[in-house]
Amino acid sequence: MNALTHIDMPVLEQPALLHGFTLQSTSQSERLLELRFAKETVDAFVAAVAQWPVQALEYKSFLRFQFGKILDDLCQGTLRPVIVNTLLDRSTGGLLVTPEGLDNVSQAEDMVKLSTAVAHLLGRSNFDAMSGQFYARFVVENVDNSDSYLRQPHRVMELHNDGTFVNQITDYVLMMKIDEQNMEGGNSLLLHLDDWADLDRFYKHPLARRVMRWTAPPSKNTREDVFHAVFDTDSVGRPTMRYIDQFVQPENYEEGTWLFQLGESLEGSAHKVSIPVPVGSFLLINNLFWLHGRDRFVAHPGLRRELMRQRGYFSFPKMEHHRGQTSN
Ligand SMILES: [Fe+2]
Repeated sequence: MNALTHIDMPVLEQPALLHGFTLQSTSQSERLLELRFAKETVDAFVAAVAQWPVQALEYKSFLRFQFGKILDDLCQGTLRPVIVNTLLDRSTGGLLVTPEGLDNVSQAEDMVKLSTAVAHLLGRSNFDAMSGQFYARFVVENVDNSDSYLRQPHRVMELHNDGTFVNQITDYVLMMKIDEQNMEGGNSLLLHLDDWADLDRFYKHPLARRVMRWTAPPSKNTREDVFHAVFDTDSVGRPTMRYIDQFVQPENYEEGTWLFQLGESLEGSAHKVSIPVPVGSFLLINNLFWLHGRDRFVAHPGLRRELMRQRGYFSFPKMEHHRGQTSN
């Protein structure tokens, strides 16, 4: 059994008035909301946390939560309910967060601080084996010698969920753009499970619950295989998914050809959302019912893109008794 079945968090009281930020649908999808921090909020946050470098966040994990509180306090307590409710609401579950005035790679430290603050209003970011920290920054350039498609520019990174090959609960994924030079294309691609026309066909297939083996290439620094099914069901009976094309290791012809069909269907979905993420902005999505990927981009010798990611689990005092370790 995969353990992603316990999302059972209380909905917080939604504030009548928002302070320090605005919220609206993105033009690409009603399910993906744009949360825009006012420049005054960003400036006040940056000043309030200036005494702590990112290294302090790495060494002291409680400081990540305090950064969340500092940001929420600047928004008069209206931020946390919006973040939590949006990520938990099945009809939305995704945010594009844009902090005004935070838009240059020279502000990379402040970008890490602000996104860390937002993530820790929701839960806690997991240890990232690739970086050895709770977040990972990595660069995509024109030439790449890595062993997965993560950094390879000239092809689509297919739709997938994160955390499929680790024994860590991965309820949310945060993907931030820190820098971008000479980039054409390369939008983030997203698909909400409930917008996938073939969901029922695959979710109700006998192989949907077949436990499969998942393993990652050496760069991921995770040596152990993980075993779980592609599909699971949340606490109120809705489908969730834990799938990635590159790392699933089908045992036989039956599994292999079914996975091929599933991948083709996802990639062919008419409801994929293509989102440009500007420098300084980040996507924050519910990893259980949003798939993500990246479109191809055009080769350029001066191409440079720097990204930061965090993945973590939702956590709320009221529901701590529901949470356990992954059982796989
Ligand atoms: Fe991913």
